[in-house]
Amino acid sequence: MRVHVADHPLITHKLTVLRDENTPSPVFRALVEELMTLLAYEGTRGVRVEPVDIVTPVAATTGVRIADPKPLIVPILRAGLGMLEGMVKLLPSAEVGFLGMARNEETLQPTTYAERLPDDLSDRQCFVLDPMLATGGSLAAAIEFLLQRGATDVTAICILAAPEGLAFVEEQLHGRDVTVVLGALDERLNEHGYIVPGLGDAGDRLYGTV
Ligand code: PRP
Ligand code: URA
Repeated sequence: MRVHVADHPLITHKLTVLRDENTPSPVFRALVEELMTLLAYEGTRGVRVEPVDIVTPVAATTGVRIADPKPLIVPILRAGLGMLEGMVKLLPSAEVGFLGMARNEETLQPTTYAERLPDDLSDRQCFVLDPMLATGGSLAAAIEFLLQRGATDVTAICILAAPEGLAFVEEQLHGRDVTVVLGALDERLNEHGYIVPGLGDAGDRLYGTV
């Protein structure tokens, strides 16, 4: 598993405002989208492109375009939905599939309650979006889901992660090749499975309590 932790003052600045408990929901939503766009720049470094011939007003030249099959973006509902617009802005030709997952706050085990994805993901580049990688249960299950459908090229983009969760995802992958891009790697998990210092419950801060 390749892990890339962003190292940019603009990302750290926006993350600080995001973490602040006084940041209201509309600002929080805007920041998640902006952070996603910044992380997408690193997360799409390996996006597949193919050569294309064009003519500029001055000369003929060869450039690149996003290759077929188009990449698939998979936000994990709910909180991953807050990242979708930020990603699509950078990769407008991508397709979008959805995975709905909820963590049981007592057992900390994830369950999948919705899925809208192509049956066959062979040869598709997949980008999984979830702001929080805490115990890693949700992300590991989401990645396993995609790999079982044939995906071989998976990049997960998360805003925050705990070291324990990152280690869990790596262990569950059993050597399969996945990239994880993070806005920050925090200190630890607390006894309730929350990231410390973290930002609290990302889904609730984006959309309110359910
Ligand atoms: C949050 C978050 C991740 C998960 C992380 O979602 O968005 O999906 O928890 O926790 P884990 O690493 O311990 O599995 P949650 O289940 O709270 O659902 P929500 O997005 O609907 O709020
Ligand atoms: N889910 C969240 O939204 N936040 C955490 O800190 C852990 C899981």
